[in-house]
Amino acid sequence: MNRIFSGVQPTGNLHLGNYLGAIRNWVQLQRDYNSIFCVVDMHAITIPPHDPAELRRATREVAAGMIASGIDPDECIIFNQSAVPAHAELTWIFNCVARIGWLNRMTQFKEKAGKNRENATVGLYDYPVLMAADVLVYKGTHVPVGDDQKQHLELMRDTAQAFNSMYGVDFFPLPEPMIFGAATRVMSLRDGTKKMSKSDTSEYSRINMTDEADEIAQKIRKAKTDPHPIPETAEELADRPEARNLIAIYAALEGSETDAVLKNFAGKGFGDFKKSFAELAVETLGPIGSEMKRLTEDTTAVDAVLKKGAERAREIADPVIREAKEIVGF
Ligand code: ADP
Ligand code: NA
Repeated sequence: MNRIFSGVQPTGNLHLGNYLGAIRNWVQLQRDYNSIFCVVDMHAITIPPHDPAELRRATREVAAGMIASGIDPDECIIFNQSAVPAHAELTWIFNCVARIGWLNRMTQFKEKAGKNRENATVGLYDYPVLMAADVLVYKGTHVPVGDDQKQHLELMRDTAQAFNSMYGVDFFPLPEPMIFGAATRVMSLRDGTKKMSKSDTSEYSRINMTDEADEIAQKIRKAKTDPHPIPETAEELADRPEARNLIAIYAALEGSETDAVLKNFAGKGFGDFKKSFAELAVETLGPIGSEMKRLTEDTTAVDAVLKKGAERAREIADPVIREAKEIVGF
């Protein structure tokens, strides 16, 4: 059976990139797949320092964001990673399958570790192996993610294949990435060459899902653009990264394509475009943000979803890890 697994880190605030690149696509897929959505709190501690109370808050916020965006907790499993020990157990087995050379090629580690690589945690280095275990401990077949996760998906497939061939079994599937929508890589609103990210602390760079209407509008007003009007074709956006990003976000929010947005706005300046953009963004994101706030005020409901989700997740993961350990000889 086809099974989706995907996750979001509880680090900082849930943002528009997480929504358009990942969560919104999950909402569309949830009816057609057996779906598991994880708040990956074990990934969240790979970059210190971290504050335990903030980690707990952010874990609930991400779960609330999934529910508020339309993930149905009765149909899907929503849980936090650390509640299912099999993720860590399979990571150790995979640590003894995956090769240092594979991890050395990972661009996300290089970006996140920065210049002082010697000081990065072993956990940050091992992040892609944990991610492989996340999906494979459920024998996940499809992984809906943003474009930034492509390389990690390749390592996941290599690891599954290496395990299978090392032990002469056909045990783990080779999961397929699902990267789709008009905004698979949402860029910072202040720098069209940088990905919108929870770790980007520069002002106005990111729209958070819990931003108020006036904050959303202000960030869009302040978004970097260029002095040229909106062109007629996508080719003309090739060397205008900021313009391209705004158009792609607009298309994704509207549920259309870049070409359709260009058709509507060709010849107009970004001043006009931003007004429509702000209206659309507030209309689409506003209700989700309010519902997230409602859900995080009283934590009982979200905690109950996470608890039930963890129980259901363990029911799937436990037999898989048991069998994997037997294959290894434990
Ligand atoms: P972040 O990079 O903000 O810490 P995560 O690593 O938790 O986010 O990613 C959660 C999901 O959101 C992943 O599927 C990832 O591909 C997607 N995602 C994160 N940032 C973006 C972005 N700027 N554009 C599109 N998708 C994104
Ligand atoms: Na990411």
